[in-house]
Amino acid sequence: MTDTDPDVSAASIDLDLGPVGNEDVDWDRFNSDAYFSHNYSTLRPDDTRIIEIVANFFEKTCRGHSLGRAIDVGAGANLYPAMMMLPYASQVTLFERAFTNRQWLTHELEKPHGSWWQFWSTIAAGRKPYEPFRKPLDVLHGRAAVERGNIFDLTPDQYDLGTMFFVAESITTRNDEFQRAARQFVNTLKPGAPFAAAFMRDSSGYIVAGRYFPACSITEADVQRALAPVARSVHIELVESNDLREGYGGMMVATGRKK
Ligand SMILES: C[S@@+](CC[C@H](N)C(=O)[O-])C[C@H]1O[C@@H](n2cnc3c(N)ncnc32)[C@H](O)[C@@H]1O
Repeated sequence: MTDTDPDVSAASIDLDLGPVGNEDVDWDRFNSDAYFSHNYSTLRPDDTRIIEIVANFFEKTCRGHSLGRAIDVGAGANLYPAMMMLPYASQVTLFERAFTNRQWLTHELEKPHGSWWQFWSTIAAGRKPYEPFRKPLDVLHGRAAVERGNIFDLTPDQYDLGTMFFVAESITTRNDEFQRAARQFVNTLKPGAPFAAAFMRDSSGYIVAGRYFPACSITEADVQRALAPVARSVHIELVESNDLREGYGGMMVATGRKK
């Protein structure tokens, strides 16, 4: 963080703090419980639409392939990207920089909140690959590994399938860092591997339990530009969303394959 106190109220989110890079933030002070309660204690229409796009994409591109290694980058306090990869993954790495989120994920896998069943019902509805799972959260517990790491240090060519939800644009205000993070995510996949990534559109940052976290204001063109050097068959969809908080202009979902 810069010399500005990050413990700011939502009212002051429009203050110009100057560029805030990923290294400027104390990620270990990310309040996982508050973030979960605000975002995932109930299923909202925007996440429902994201599930439709991503679960359909995975069904189309992964069905019939042997089980592989999957990664969710910057998993935070969210299990549903990993849940969507379950039929196609023998292992799911939940890759996270913040100690608080790693601790939360470890505990959540053992004792998941009931709201994940709302997400699962939507994921599984009418999609055959999800049908065999009677206890998806137990299976996820068995297959998931919480891993400490930094997106900027990801090793290339490791995974068969990947997700990254609200990370590259929500960890920095700097467009160069956003682009580097998005490319690092795709690069950690093996050539041809499918991926899905969700982004906040035109975000001015966010508050978690009274603490400011940075975001880079991006549009579809920025996502296209960031992914073009590393991905092919990129498809970007806008997702309507306006009641999560102030200071953003909807969500975007990109699907594609690593080049
Ligand atoms: C806005 S949250 C998104 C969390 C979750 N993926 C979701 O869908 O809600 C951003 C996440 O990125 C993580 N993060 C921040 N910097 C990171 C880095 N350099 N490498 C990996 N993860 C990072 C944060 O700890 C946080 O969990």
